[in-house]
Amino acid sequence: TDPQNFYAEVGGAPVFDKIVSRFYEQVREDEVLRPLYPEEDLGPAEVRLRMFLEQYWGGPRTYSDQRGHPRLRMRHAPFKVGPIERDAWLRCMRVAVDEAGLDDAHRAQLWQYLTYAAASMVNSDF
Ligand code: HEM
Repeated sequence: TDPQNFYAEVGGAPVFDKIVSRFYEQVREDEVLRPLYPEEDLGPAEVRLRMFLEQYWGGPRTYSDQRGHPRLRMRHAPFKVGPIERDAWLRCMRVAVDEAGLDDAHRAQLWQYLTYAAASMVNSDF
């Protein structure tokens, strides 16, 4: 499916809310990921990821209204993202995506994007 139609096809805001809140529930408990986040309150980081994904998949463009061009690789540069961090991120995201109730085709499309995006965020060999 065209990524621009994905948001509407899967059910819009509630689905993205469910995925991202479940993801951050796990980040809170994750000993690899939790220390990377500079702020005590993960709420604002959760909002930013949710807005970004909604925009990428054809939903509201609130992310760019508030944050400008995503430039995600640059925004991750302050954090060490090696293979261990990438795998931890994907492990948390996998649970969140699997529990979201998407049909197989949409789930596979989302997962393919997330694995690709996570690989492209790696900025350390270790
Ligand atoms: C921000 C970690 C992959 C999207 C952040 C932050 C950290 C982080 C520590 C700062 C928290 C904050 O916003 O205050 C990681 C790690 C990854 C990863 C360890 C492992 C590969 C991804 C991927 C995406 C993504 C694959 C998108 C598909 C975002 C967004 C922000 C963010 C949208 C907020 C950017 C902004 O507007 O400032 N990430 N991230 N991240 N991340 Fe990631």
